[in-house]
Amino acid sequence: MYRTHTCGELRLADASKKVTLAGWVQRVRKLGGMTFIDLRDRYGVTQLTVNEKTPENIRLAAEKLGREFVLQAEGVVVERASKNGKIPTGEVEISLLELRVLSAAEVPPFTIEDESDGGEELRAKYRYLDLRRNPVKNALILRHRVAQEARKYLDAQNFLEIETPFLIKSTPEGARDFVVPSRLHHGEFYALPQSPQTFKQLLMVAGYDRYFQIVRCFRDEDLRADRQPEFTQIDCEMAFVEREDILQTFGGMMQRLFRHVLGVEFDNIPRMTYADAMRDYGCDKPDVRFGMKIKELTPQVQGKGFAVFDSAAYVGGICAEGCAGYTRKQLDELTEWVKRPQIGAKGLAYIRLAEDGLKSSIDKFYAPEELQQVAATLGAKPGDLILILSGNEKQTLNALCELRLEMGARLGLRRRGEFAPLWVVDFPLLDWDDEAQRFYAMHHPFTSPQPDDLSLFMSGDREALKTVRADAYDFVMNGVELGGGSIRIFDAAIQQQMFKVLGFTPEDAGYKFGFLTNAFKFGAPPHGGIAFGFDRLCSMFGGSDSIRDYIAFPKNNAARDTMIDSPSHIDDTQLKELGIDIAGKSE
Ligand code: AMO
Repeated sequence: MYRTHTCGELRLADASKKVTLAGWVQRVRKLGGMTFIDLRDRYGVTQLTVNEKTPENIRLAAEKLGREFVLQAEGVVVERASKNGKIPTGEVEISLLELRVLSAAEVPPFTIEDESDGGEELRAKYRYLDLRRNPVKNALILRHRVAQEARKYLDAQNFLEIETPFLIKSTPEGARDFVVPSRLHHGEFYALPQSPQTFKQLLMVAGYDRYFQIVRCFRDEDLRADRQPEFTQIDCEMAFVEREDILQTFGGMMQRLFRHVLGVEFDNIPRMTYADAMRDYGCDKPDVRFGMKIKELTPQVQGKGFAVFDSAAYVGGICAEGCAGYTRKQLDELTEWVKRPQIGAKGLAYIRLAEDGLKSSIDKFYAPEELQQVAATLGAKPGDLILILSGNEKQTLNALCELRLEMGARLGLRRRGEFAPLWVVDFPLLDWDDEAQRFYAMHHPFTSPQPDDLSLFMSGDREALKTVRADAYDFVMNGVELGGGSIRIFDAAIQQQMFKVLGFTPEDAGYKFGFLTNAFKFGAPPHGGIAFGFDRLCSMFGGSDSIRDYIAFPKNNAARDTMIDSPSHIDDTQLKELGIDIAGKSE
């Protein structure tokens, strides 16, 4: 037996027991004639001691230990003379009787401590060493807990966990596919699933009326802190349901997860329409932990001779409470902030409601009463600061959304430990792209129009189509889209119409999705579902902005795994076998 106990479990009550532990050397300290070895495993750290009574051969062996050596240690549990209140095993130590080096270790490239001296790149290259650190380990333990709680909830609700294939055909979630060349069929490719969307719908046709899967999805898209090329979903689908059933079932799952993992209760998950979210918060995933709603000012500020506002399709503002004292320097810095390419505003106008009266960057064009009226629209009071942006409606709302979040963060309104869940509902079904002169599916092409908007949808009229609402919903928390789903089309004629609206020729639609439309001819039940971003959910629970911290082996922001050095070239024989043109191989 390698060990009788873990390094995290011995207490004072175990004193005088003879035990065997195994683990990694965290640290070796020498004090006079004594040597203290901190032995670490997944469960904790236990101190081993070498003193004058320790057998000679062990004292010599202890001399040669280095950090991260793997040891097996046998000894007697004794009460410590100087106790360490910071760790659960801190009242005891093991007086060594035997010591075996199971594996020596080179000096690690960074310190394996909670606060490591290693930079991100170095830690990524040696991820297996980084995984030994408590913060990373705790993130993975949290991930495990969330997965188990989700499984418990879904199992109790009669959901079946069913696996779907990875080597498939393109699924249209809006990103690029990762593809896998076929050795047996030269020139043909599998696509890795962007989600199990079509398969879960086929399972509904097959009669498995409650399905879930904690499943890897693959999307070749630009990376951000909350996006990885391979990520995990808690993917779910139900048959014989309407939107309300889905919101109840999965609102219930979120309540359970927050209660059991974090001890956080929320009874009610408010709902907001997409239109309201866009109008009041400038985006479809508002952080509703704080107010600071956006107000449109377009009609109010136009026609007063200020060309910038007069020529704008949209003018809107927010009120930053208590910020009238912002200095010129702070306002300049904020102006630079909104002009960054990520935000994309042309400039920033402000009105300060200072003690000694209104001060504004636009008072050349507006009388004090007019500025007062703007302040009234925004509900501003003395001491507040109004920030105004203008331009194209979509971009300006987006910039106002970012500015609101930034001001919310600066004012400490985006409080950690506070959770504001929200269902965003009534998304538009389609997104019109002016440049390409075509519609895209806002969610995906299997999303049903709302029953009330069905005749508009079937009419096929372009302007009418722009107004059709989808039976789609997102679960949003603190400004993060944690999940999204929809009620699906289950009628072959409506699905055909959708493909037509999206510009698929019947041949194209048949080639790509014929298997699904065919299946619908054999008795398709009404169905709908949702998928939660599991990595995002874990980072929300853990209070981090980066999902990478919650993935055992993540990719870096260039989509590389620097530890295994992937992606990498493959050799010519392999290329040949796959029927890939070697001459075309890129360097
Ligand atoms: P959607 O594309 O909205 O829906 O994805 C569902 C959720 O998955 C998470 N997510 C991601 N997480 C990390 N990295 C990524 N690259 C990434 N992309 C998405 C988000 C998102 O809310 N098949 C549909 C679901 C359905 O209709 O049932 C789908 O995949 O948290």
